[in-house]
Amino acid sequence: MIELRNVDFGYEDKLVLKNISFRIDQTESVVIMGPSGSGKSTILRLVLGLECPQRGEVLIDSQNISVMSEKEKRELRKSIGMVFQDGALFDSRTVGENVGYYLIEHTKMSWKEIEKKVVEMLGFVGLDADEIIDKLPELLSGGMQRRVAIGRALLSTNPRIMLYDEPTTGLDPQSTENVLALINKLTRERSISTIVVTHQIADALSIADRFIVIHEGEIAYDGDFVGLRECRDERVRAFLGPFRASMDLVAEKRFMNGV
Ligand SMILES: Nc1ncnc2c1ncn2[C@@H]1O[C@H](COP(=O)(O)OP(=O)(O)OP(=O)(O)O)[C@@H](O)[C@H]1O
Ligand SMILES: [Mg+2]
Repeated sequence: MIELRNVDFGYEDKLVLKNISFRIDQTESVVIMGPSGSGKSTILRLVLGLECPQRGEVLIDSQNISVMSEKEKRELRKSIGMVFQDGALFDSRTVGENVGYYLIEHTKMSWKEIEKKVVEMLGFVGLDADEIIDKLPELLSGGMQRRVAIGRALLSTNPRIMLYDEPTTGLDPQSTENVLALINKLTRERSISTIVVTHQIADALSIADRFIVIHEGEIAYDGDFVGLRECRDERVRAFLGPFRASMDLVAEKRFMNGV
């Protein structure tokens, strides 16, 4: 469903991704981790077709993004929901206008019809529509804004693929929990392929069963939790070092649950 084959990518003369290959099947959830600047967000930009690789191929449903016209890429992006690193809501539009953005811009539906869908979607992402639909995003907490952003991505694209860039960064534990539960619910209830980029390894562990660690533009690890924990690659060990305690905790929990 999503496949990168031997991808090299650089901005200007700086090579950012080197020989990246992986495949993510339908309904699979994968977490991409790695130090700041290692190329994680760039991978998402490639999957969205916002950038094209200098070498190798990016395939979505076996279609090569590089050879698509802008129009075809726009079509493709309709099936991909993206929650950007900075949340990126429109400040001057209400929560309702943000969530209904795509329907307002690209369909002839009346506001009344759109509003109905927006209210439904706000409920789905665990927010009280009556309370917030007419508010500006700045009046909401960070966690609520992130959920509005997820709602907007869902309503705009009815996606088969969801991409989240650092969905929990900067959130308090309760909001983090809410956003993670929402991501899990989505992955479970709709057959969506999911890529989550995150620094927060404790969160990563609750989202996915497969982990890709990027180090300076290369894949240092791709596999399951047990393999990750035992990985002997120095780059992976250095990255995971500070998180050993939380990994041990998760391992214990998994063991108790028989996973
Ligand atoms: N538009 C751009 N032009 C030039 N260089 C860029 C651009 N965007 C990113 N880079 C560089 O590409 C490299 C990878 O950036 P990327 O944003 O993919 O990293 P990241 O892993 O997402 O980091 P973070 O965890 O801090 O978000 C960095 O060295 C960055 O400086
Ligand atoms: Mg990033």
